[in-house]
Amino acid sequence: MKKKTIPDIINMKGAEKITMLTAYDVSFARLLDASGIDMLLVGDSLGIVALGYESTVPVTMDEMIHHAKAVGRGVSQALLVGDMPFLSYQVCPEEAIVNAGRFLKEAGCDAVKVEGGEEVCAVVSAIDGAGIPTMGHIGLTPQTAGKLGGFKVQGKDLETAGKLVDDAQALEQAGAFSLVLECIPDKLAEVITASVSIPTIGIGAGPACDGQVLVTHDLLGLFDKFVPSFVKKYVDLSPRIKEALASFQAEVKSGKYPDVEHSFTTKVDMKALLRDSEDA
Ligand code: KIV
Repeated sequence: MKKKTIPDIINMKGAEKITMLTAYDVSFARLLDASGIDMLLVGDSLGIVALGYESTVPVTMDEMIHHAKAVGRGVSQALLVGDMPFLSYQVCPEEAIVNAGRFLKEAGCDAVKVEGGEEVCAVVSAIDGAGIPTMGHIGLTPQTAGKLGGFKVQGKDLETAGKLVDDAQALEQAGAFSLVLECIPDKLAEVITASVSIPTIGIGAGPACDGQVLVTHDLLGLFDKFVPSFVKKYVDLSPRIKEALASFQAEVKSGKYPDVEHSFTTKVDMKALLRDSEDA
């Protein structure tokens, strides 16, 4: 399958729904890429589902690059997006460009994603101006969830909804090539999707968006600490993994594994070595 480009993703708006999922390592990247997924996001959700942090706030640039490099080695057709972690783009546009550039130069990403509305437009414009395609992310922005009063649906009244429409349009003007809409009412997502000419990718934003993204561990049932209500588990792998691990434990303890089929055999009598060492 041909490698997807930024124009390919933009041209899918109104023509074909866009799929995006997260990846943090090469094994998952290969599986996801082979499934034909349109975009792979090395999300800063890495901090929660792979590194064991309580939130995405502690995730560093070096951690993101380490995992983005691994994912990059497993991708051949999907458009690869690196998520800019907290404080990697807010300090100043120059620092944002350098950090965004690391995703492309060191990890082979095609684009980066930043959270925020009008307040990050100068940064989006600087990164895009440096030739780095940038995805916006509005609605519930996990890096600043504290400021938003927690992990809550955003834009529920006309005033906050209107602000999100303005944010979406400002991000498009600043050069964003697409927008993640997280945890907003479905009707607001429909309005935002109609008011911008770039694709919207929803997560907890209903069916009207141009595409959908989920955290891969959520849809596979691999992360149970907190499962948002918008997540659909396409398979519940945790119990099956637990079963397999229990079988391994039981078979090793009982001597059932490894058997002949899973061992390297030889006709040479190695016990002779034991006799030699006993003679010495
Ligand atoms: O970090 C992440 O995985 C994300 C997606 C949920 C959009 O930002």
